Amino acid sequence: MTRTERLIVEPVSHDHADGLLAALADDRVGAFIGGPDVTSVEALHERIDRMTAGPGPDWPEEHWHNWVARRATDGVVVGRLEATTYGPVREAAEWAEVAYVFGPAYWGQGYAHEGTSWMLDHLRDAFGVRECWAAIHPDNARSVRVVERLGFEQRAAPARPMGSYDEPDLVFVRFTESA
Ligand SMILES: CC(C)(COP(=O)(O)OP(=O)(O)OC[C@H]1O[C@@H](n2cnc3c(N)ncnc32)[C@H](O)[C@@H]1OP(=O)(O)O)[C@@H](O)C(=O)NCCC(=O)NCCS
Repeated sequence: MTRTERLIVEPVSHDHADGLLAALADDRVGAFIGGPDVTSVEALHERIDRMTAGPGPDWPEEHWHNWVARRATDGVVVGRLEATTYGPVREAAEWAEVAYVFGPAYWGQGYAHEGTSWMLDHLRDAFGVRECWAAIHPDNARSVRVVERLGFEQRAAPARPMGSYDEPDLVFVRFTESA
């Protein structure tokens, strides 16, 4: 578990299923990410199993990291953070792609900025990642704002084989500085 200024961030677990459903079961969440992020608590439990199991032996250079963000004042789940790091050694990754999904009830309060900022620092400190990519639908203005404020720069096309990239996404990259 980690504390940021206003959030508790912890690896996703089955304890979070009800909270994730309450926060993210809203049509607005899926508008620019290809459909709903959550559907039922049963499906969430299955997904949490897959998230924690990771990509498996067929993808030895791919590592999954998933966290849940809870509001520190009352413990309510406000969203989740995810990253895929790439490289033969988990603790010394070459690059990563990141994403974040927060509940509409909590939008516009800087939680995505705060959580993603922590995630970028953590990816650098724990896994050596300095090159982070994000793919964002062009109409997802809030998400574009999140990466811009974090210092990402737009690129014409992904320079890495990003699993989250689909036409006509915009792509952004940030080279994180040393601590
Ligand atoms: C994208 C998302 C994570 C943003 O969450 P959030 O907690 O509202 O983000 P923040 O409050 O940290 O920042 C939002 C920024 O968008 C701005 N914003 C708010 N409404 C906006 C709008 N209608 N148009 C453009 N920008 C807007 C805010 O002012 C803020 O910018 P600022 O930091 O310069 O003030 C959230 O909307 C979400 O989860 N959407 C659904 C899932 C998704 O699309 N994830 C991104 C996948 S790439």
